[in-house]
Amino acid sequence: IRLYAGTACPELAQDIASYLNLPLCGRDVIEFPNENLFVKLHGSVRGQDCYVIQTTSAPVHRNLMELLILLQTLRLDSAARITAVVPYLCYARSDKKDQPRVPITARLVADMIEIAGADRYITMDLHAGQIQGFFSIPGDVLTAFHMLTDYFKTILNRLHSPVVVTADLGFAKKARNYAAKLQLPLAFIEKRRLANNAKAEALTLIGDVYDRDVILVDDEIDTGGSIAQAVNLVKENGARNIYISFVHAVFSRDAAQRLAALPVTQFVTTNTIPIPHEKAALFGERLKVL
Ligand code: R5P
Repeated sequence: IRLYAGTACPELAQDIASYLNLPLCGRDVIEFPNENLFVKLHGSVRGQDCYVIQTTSAPVHRNLMELLILLQTLRLDSAARITAVVPYLCYARSDKKDQPRVPITARLVADMIEIAGADRYITMDLHAGQIQGFFSIPGDVLTAFHMLTDYFKTILNRLHSPVVVTADLGFAKKARNYAAKLQLPLAFIEKRRLANNAKAEALTLIGDVYDRDVILVDDEIDTGGSIAQAVNLVKENGARNIYISFVHAVFSRDAAQRLAALPVTQFVTTNTIPIPHEKAALFGERLKVL
C-alpha cells in the first residue's frame, strides 16, 4: 500500500498514516507563478495499491485540481489500484437540477475524479446520499455519526432534559438516528433558504425545547447562517444550553467570527477539514474537534 497526501489536510493525512503504521510517500507539489500545478512522485508506484488523501475544502479549486493531478500522476506511473480519499467532497450541495438551466456540479466532480484515474473513492458524510450514484466506480461513504454520538454520550449526564434538534429538514432522517442513539427526543427546524447561499432563515420550530439543553445537529457549517438562525430560534423558544454537532467545518468567510459570537456552550466537529489556528482560537475551549 502506498499513501500519498495532497496539501489540503496534512495533519489528517499524517494521522491516517500513523494509525495504519505506514509512511506518507514523498511527492512534490509545486505551484507555478501562473497558478498551474505540477506533481512529481519521489518513487515508482508500478503495480502498487495507492491512496491519495486530499480534502476539497477551500481553496476548493486548487485542492480539487491537486487531487486530480495526483490521481493522474499515479495512473500514468502504472499504479495497480488508486483510491481517492476525499474526507470532504466539494460541490456536494449542487446535487440536482432544482431550477431550470443549472448544473449538477457534484456529478461533474465525481466524473473528474474517475477520469483522472481513481478506481475507488472514500469520502465522509456526503451532504446527499444520492451523490454515491454519481460515481460509477465503487466507493465507501464513511460517517462520523458514531464518533459524535459517542462523545455526546460521555457528557449526557451533565445535560438538562436534552433534546436533539435538526437545523435542516434535509438532515431529519440522520437526526432521527442521532436522537435514537442517544435515546433523546427530536425537534425540527423548517428552514427556507432565501438567496443563493447568502442568507438562510429558520422559520418554524417543530417540537419542544423549552427549559431543555439542545444538541443542534447538521452535516456541515458553511457560512454559519443556518446555524445562527437555528440558535436564535431555539433560544427564543426557551432553550437552555446549546451544543452544536456537525461533521464538516467549512467555515467560509467570517463564519468562525459569527459562530464564536453565538450563545453556544460547545461546538463539536471533526477534522475532515482543517480549521486554521486563528479561526479555532476564536472559540477557545468551546471548540471540540474529534
Ligand atoms: C444545508 O442544506 C446543510 O445541511 C447545512 O445546513 C448548510 O450547508 C449550512 O450552510 P450555512 O452554514 O451556509 O448556512
